[in-house]
Amino acid sequence: MNYMLKDEYEDPILKLFEEVFNNLNLDQKKAIKTTDGPLLIIAGPGTGKTLVLILRTLYLILTKKAKPSEILLTTFTEKATFELRDRINQIARKLKLKIQLHNLKISTIHGICNEIILKNLIHTPLNNNYIILDDLTQKLFIYEHFTEIEENLLISCIMENGNISGMQLKD
Ligand SMILES: Nc1ncnc2c1ncn2[C@@H]1O[C@H](COP(=O)(O)OP(=O)(O)OP(=O)(O)O)[C@@H](O)[C@H]1O
Ligand SMILES: [Mg+2]
Repeated sequence: MNYMLKDEYEDPILKLFEEVFNNLNLDQKKAIKTTDGPLLIIAGPGTGKTLVLILRTLYLILTKKAKPSEILLTTFTEKATFELRDRINQIARKLKLKIQLHNLKISTIHGICNEIILKNLIHTPLNNNYIILDDLTQKLFIYEHFTEIEENLLISCIMENGNISGMQLKD
């Protein structure tokens, strides 16, 4: 059956999406058009979640409900971030849209949290005494500070538990 949203043909943006992606199902169209308030989409692998996320983003921009700079697309992995960035540009070209997307933020959750922390370091107890170590530097750091870390761990264990029988702090 060919489902149709009540006002589908009165919505020129959805109509444009439909012309290029003519397989969009009713739920996908509903999700694209639902722009007010939070929306949770649960769907299986390969069912078109990312396509919906991209079209929903473009819908928000084209309806002027949000500027690209007011939208954050976030994922867990770097790989998914690259995919999103590639696909949104590809789809915007496919739809022949004349919009600038360079202000649209696409980042991993870790990436965006790091950016927020770095921008607000002055307000955190960490102050400026803070850097993020990559995997290799983390290992090197632990290797170089092993004794110090071991002693600090032991001290905090003792402080939490009163005493640890059979364990002694080194001088
Ligand atoms: N309603 C649909 N009918 C047919 N094909 C569709 C439909 N929706 C999306 N697709 C196509 O299915 C493929 C997978 O879509 P998409 O990558 O958006 O899915 P996904 O749910 O994000 O996948 P994954 O779970 O791997 O992240 C794409 O080629 C997309 O164009
Ligand atoms: Mg996906």
